[in-house]
Amino acid sequence: MDRLSAPARLMIVSDLDHTMVDHHDPENLSLLRFNALWEFYYRHDSLLVFSTGRSPTLYNELRKEKPLLTPDITIMSVGTEITYGTAMVPDDGWVEILNEKWDRKIVVEETSKFPELTLQSETEQRPHKISFYVDKAKAQEVTSALSKKLQERGLDVKIIYSGGMDLDILPQGAGKGQALAYLHKKFTSEGKLPENTLVCGDSGNDAELFSIPGVHGVMVSNAQEELLQWHAENAKDNPKVIHASERCAGGIIQAIGHFGLGPNKSPRDVTDVVHSNTENVNPGHEVVNFNLFYERWRRAEVENCETYIASLKAVCHPSGFFVHPSGIEQPLHDSISAIRRIYGDKQGKQFRVWVDSVLPMQISSDTWVVRFKKWESCGEERQSCLCTAVLTSSKEAGGLEIFTWMHLHETWSKGTEAKDSASWLI
Ligand code: GLC
Ligand code: MG
Repeated sequence: MDRLSAPARLMIVSDLDHTMVDHHDPENLSLLRFNALWEFYYRHDSLLVFSTGRSPTLYNELRKEKPLLTPDITIMSVGTEITYGTAMVPDDGWVEILNEKWDRKIVVEETSKFPELTLQSETEQRPHKISFYVDKAKAQEVTSALSKKLQERGLDVKIIYSGGMDLDILPQGAGKGQALAYLHKKFTSEGKLPENTLVCGDSGNDAELFSIPGVHGVMVSNAQEELLQWHAENAKDNPKVIHASERCAGGIIQAIGHFGLGPNKSPRDVTDVVHSNTENVNPGHEVVNFNLFYERWRRAEVENCETYIASLKAVCHPSGFFVHPSGIEQPLHDSISAIRRIYGDKQGKQFRVWVDSVLPMQISSDTWVVRFKKWESCGEERQSCLCTAVLTSSKEAGGLEIFTWMHLHETWSKGTEAKDSASWLI
């Protein structure tokens, strides 16, 4: 990844459904805890990789439904499609590798002879992935018969069973594990192999992630039987793989702590973010904490007291200004004062605020520009802005570094404007 000039401190390679995303938690609490942790401590020098079985179509649907961060690298369709950055630029080198010894037509022809196989939706059929549903009771038998047949036809394929119902057929060199091995090789050739890699999964198509040399791995508490069985047969004695006691993203946070890969206390688990005394060396911390406070203020989860308003004003420069996404400009202090009148307006509602891609850039000895994306959601409604903040740093009497907000400029991100722009305060 060009964004980092040195090896990533941590690379997290995580599955999405039932790993990063808990479909049994409508509040998305563990995901939001992970998001805050990642943006606070890791985003600037680490890499986030999502590795999903979903096609680009279904992946984009999930992004609309759930508060997912933007990953640095997206691996889709069970390790058959690798893309980079927000623009999702495809890795053509990977496509070439997968084309070797692969003939989609033969797979389609042979699988059509198995009545036990039901084709998945059209969106899930990809150039290097053909996917079916199959009954759990018949999965093993069908897999071996099919594998024999395809071998006879001269194909070298990989058949993966996941979630007790999905059967994917891919080129032998594909899969989530192979895609990760390919990335590791690429990073190594650039002298940028991440210091640590943590792989996270819950089902069959994640199994091969856990056998990539050198990685740490977490099977979330809610992992599927087929993954646990794979682990018992293949990786039982590997101390670098754990079965977490926490579900989904909670298990990922747990693993970061278990393996000592870095801080694992999410800012969402800190009650007083305005006065929190974490060592303040990164202006991105201000961004995460301010937005978390803002959510709690509107949900009436912090006390309605003037001390908070005063503390916020103290970290905003008196001549600083805020450019609202509507284009209206006002002094930062006025925007902070305006927060008073919306205390608790989202109490009892599913109101959440999160920030994504918080990237600080130092532009002079004491000045930082922090770019980030801010999201607000309330039930089904969602809005987001692209934000640019300018902060300056100075040392307090005790030597502690503090940051002062100079300016904040926001523009609506495409397609996510607020219907009523006055409802977006800051
Ligand atoms: C996702 C994909 C599906 C695949 C499954 C297991 O659900 O949409 O096509 O079979 O993952 O890999
Ligand atoms: Mg999964």
